[in-house]
Amino acid sequence: MAMVIRLAVPKESAIGERRVAIVPEVAGKLVKRGWEVVVETGAGASAGFPDSEYTAAGALVVPNATKLAEATILVGVQPPDPAAVARYAPGTVTISLLYPSRHLELVRALVAARTRAFALELLPRITRSQSMDVLSSQATVAGYASVILGAELSPRLLPMLTTAAGTIRPAKVLVLGAGVAGLMAIATARRLGAVVEGYDVRRAAGEQVRSLGAKFLELSINAEGQGGYARELTPEEKAQEQGMVAAAVTQSDIVITTANIPGKKAPTLVTRETVSRMKPGAILVDLAAESGGNCELTRPDETVLTGSVTIVGPTNLPSRVAYHASQMFSKNLLAFLGLFGTRDGSLATEYPDEILQATLVTKDGTVVHAPTQALVGGSA
Ligand code: NAI
Repeated sequence: MAMVIRLAVPKESAIGERRVAIVPEVAGKLVKRGWEVVVETGAGASAGFPDSEYTAAGALVVPNATKLAEATILVGVQPPDPAAVARYAPGTVTISLLYPSRHLELVRALVAARTRAFALELLPRITRSQSMDVLSSQATVAGYASVILGAELSPRLLPMLTTAAGTIRPAKVLVLGAGVAGLMAIATARRLGAVVEGYDVRRAAGEQVRSLGAKFLELSINAEGQGGYARELTPEEKAQEQGMVAAAVTQSDIVITTANIPGKKAPTLVTRETVSRMKPGAILVDLAAESGGNCELTRPDETVLTGSVTIVGPTNLPSRVAYHASQMFSKNLLAFLGLFGTRDGSLATEYPDEILQATLVTKDGTVVHAPTQALVGGSA
């Protein structure tokens, strides 16, 4: 007999997380597909999606976790709560950001419960997966929010103004790392009227930076590595980079840093010494705080005041713009769910698709993702 597919959306349990994995509009689309969507009471409230909108979309809003645990698929933004995982039935599919190497206890719980856990950050960045790429959508939001935060902390106006009270010169914003977040930061700072400079080790980023109306700082290095990502620089290249970056940093009012190298500590671009030469009242927003920071003085989720320079390292900026961050995450998730075939109305249990294979971390009581397997062993 065909079983109905039930997708559950528990309320996010991580401290300070305001996003929700499925917004009412997407819940409605799944309901139209014949799926049952169960949402924990208040799951979307802090993102601006009240329970009533889920109900109107045909979802069932439930006050406790029991009904959620009976689902075929559980989705989340952040990794699931290990305590909740113990209640999941064997074969339950979980889909969220997972970062398995940072959450080994959770991986063990997912294995013990015989779940099939998919980690969205492991999505291969191929053309076909662009619509599912939560790293890109959330980095877009983070890039925007980084400039808003910098502007709020700065004692300066960003645009040029000519007023009866005199002329105000535009603020100078420097963006280090011009990937997804950096390009959005550049675009946002330009819209606020700042004079913007951008820098990236990938020379291909230069064209994009210039097309947004910003100046591109150029070194004689091109460190384009595998898969369009950056490679690590040699010690000589690093010294050359730090010199050029230091000169730009010390002339800027707001510095946004976004440089990352997949699987490695974030590169140090702004040294303690450079910070000591920054302009009075300057702000540094370090988006790489979670992976070790691009500034030597960054402390994740803390505000560091040195002299009159303020350094912040927010690790979850998308959560500040929870409505649209959730909407984008949810659209990504809808596209990802489209990869799961159904047979007789129930969810397929084999995953021939390469995107599903690449993101699957646990299956049938074993760890199937090789790097995680090396850390926790194959089975529980
Ligand atoms: P990311 O978050 O890993 O890094 C951010 C930026 O920091 C990158 O542009 C990188 O080149 C830069 N960086 C690294 N070391 C640096 C250093 N020492 N100095 C200055 N900059 C440094 O990367 P993100 O933003 O996730 O994506 C990077 C690129 O990957 C994008 O520009 C895009 O072209 C490509 N991409 C492709 C996708 C697809 O085809 N589906 C989806 C998303 C991104």
